[in-house]
Amino acid sequence: MTVRHFIDTSDLTKDEVLDIVRLGLALKSSIAAGYYPPLLAGRTLGMIFEQSSTRTRVSFETAMTQLGGHAQYLAPGQIQLGGHESMEDTARVLSRLVDVIMARVARHKTVVDLAANATVPVLNGMSDYNHPTQEIGDLITMVEHLPAGKRLEDCKVVFVGDATQVCASLMMITTKVGMDFVQFGPEGFQLKPEMQEIGRRNAAASGGSVFVTDDVHKALEGADFVYTDVWYGDYEAELGEEERLAVFMPTYQVSAELMALANPGAKFMHCLPATRGEEVTDEVLDSDYSIAFEEAGNRLTAQRALLVYFLRPEVANPHKVAAAKAELDAVLAGIL
Ligand code: CP
Repeated sequence: MTVRHFIDTSDLTKDEVLDIVRLGLALKSSIAAGYYPPLLAGRTLGMIFEQSSTRTRVSFETAMTQLGGHAQYLAPGQIQLGGHESMEDTARVLSRLVDVIMARVARHKTVVDLAANATVPVLNGMSDYNHPTQEIGDLITMVEHLPAGKRLEDCKVVFVGDATQVCASLMMITTKVGMDFVQFGPEGFQLKPEMQEIGRRNAAASGGSVFVTDDVHKALEGADFVYTDVWYGDYEAELGEEERLAVFMPTYQVSAELMALANPGAKFMHCLPATRGEEVTDEVLDSDYSIAFEEAGNRLTAQRALLVYFLRPEVANPHKVAAAKAELDAVLAGIL
């Protein structure tokens, strides 16, 4: 059987994305009720990190523990990778030692090569091309905060600022599920035409849309979710600090004034970590309408679902998870 990977936000169909969202919500509700389904008992995740991480590292490790499995943190300098052992050989070896691999890498080609040589699922924990696992958590967060009477397909998401890999992934996933996506960013820091094309193809199938602009009013009008990321994205020519700030500040800073241009009740999102006072003000990040910290918590919701989906496809059906929880609830009700 061909092993499946999640290294590109586009690897999953719309139905698969929505199944994983539902599975994440079912597992979240089960664990909130006190039942930790041991779906990954005996399974091990190998976590390769070429770069530092808080959310991705901790959420994957916690998810494995909560579901009865184990995670190994394979930090730079702690495994042979980068020394004289190639990525190809590392993939072959780890495939024999762990059940699933997660990798955060500097260059996307690294995770592509890893997946090409692995015989266990490989999940991309962020590369310079995209951040697929972030987007499952983002979608779950949006589902939990849908405006009254609206479905995902009725919502508009506006990404403000630099075309980072998070911006690209957000465009891919929102258009995949039929949402309207806008990037409000300065010329030279907007999603590349070939990237926009991916979103347009998604939108043609799903009914969503893609729009890239430097016009703040056109961008923010009707926005349900306003999202931003740091201003030092993965463009080739890195700018100096002063040049970077001159490009983005103050026009692309998410402030209360900018949020006021969105729909009443619009939510603020950020993949974090945030550079407070640059891409977002304290006032917005700490506001009642900021769901950035819930979003960080939903990295865990997403990782649980992804790990079960890729490691136990036979039980990843959310109805089975819900049924297992209902059965346990019934047993507990008889005892307590
Ligand atoms: N958003 C995100 O991926 O955070 P970390 O870099 O801390 O993992």
